[in-house]
Amino acid sequence: MKLKLAFTGLAAICLFVGAGMALSPASIAQNAQGGTKPDGKTLKPAASFQSITNQQQRSVALFQEAGKVIQHPRCVNCHPATDRPLQGATMHPHQPPVFRGDGGMGMPGMQCTTCHSPQNTPVVGQADTIKSIPGNPAWHLAPIEMAWVGKSLGQICQQIKDPARNGGKSMDQIVEHMAHDELVGWGWDPGAGREPVPGTQAEFGELIKAWVDTGAACPAS
Ligand code: HEC
Ligand code: HEC
Repeated sequence: MKLKLAFTGLAAICLFVGAGMALSPASIAQNAQGGTKPDGKTLKPAASFQSITNQQQRSVALFQEAGKVIQHPRCVNCHPATDRPLQGATMHPHQPPVFRGDGGMGMPGMQCTTCHSPQNTPVVGQADTIKSIPGNPAWHLAPIEMAWVGKSLGQICQQIKDPARNGGKSMDQIVEHMAHDELVGWGWDPGAGREPVPGTQAEFGELIKAWVDTGAACPAS
């Protein structure tokens, strides 16, 4: 009963607040600079890896750079190893408890779209802890075979290459997914109160493409 009331409250919030969160000017400026400092906000450009002459080592290094995005909480929170998504920078279990359900859409009466709308929704007049509810037209949980929680970057790399665990995707389709998928793209525009993944989706796509072009080698761990 209490839980139900909470949902009604949330739905009301969703109705009354404005749509769409823009990136703050500061983060746009950072992305536009495209710096190479490992500050957690930028990605090294794919071209900067040319200096590694050994192709396999170059491939591994490219994937490790892309790993700054892949292993970021924005991505991992939705690729959990259980039926429950995670939340926040601390990657704690989703509050309130929600579960995978059919096709990762949630349980009947508790579907992801009850609270997650097609765009990030600012929350006004609430505690500092939640500034917005994340949103995207395709918001649902990654299938269990695509779980990344608790895996090393090397293990995630092997999994992404395996058609039995990547949704039957070819390497070209993986490049396409990383570079252009809208739900992946949410990571760079995650709504107020959430840190975006580093760099831009275009830069990330270039790293993944260069990784595939150099033989898609995986880190040992
Ligand atoms: C009852 C409302 C509600 C339902 C249902 C719900 N969510 Fe959420 N979810 C939220 C709220 C509110 C937040 C923001 C919490 C915060 O930022 O601390 C959130 C945050 C998240 C995040 C964290 C984003 C991040 O990186 O911090 C993920 C992932 C997520 N939800 C996935 C899902 C999935 C998948 C479903 C369906 C299986 C779902 N949620 C169902 C309310 C809900
Ligand atoms: C709201 C949940 C959600 C978030 C956030 C999310 N994903 Fe996913 N991801 C999914 C779902 C659902 C699928 C399966 C559907 C599909 O393939 O389109 C998937 C599939 C994938 C796949 C293909 C299969 C695989 O695991 O090899 C990749 C790659 C991927 N996501 C990368 C990312 C990256 C990178 C980010 C962060 C920038 C991210 N995802 C954030 C839900 C999410």
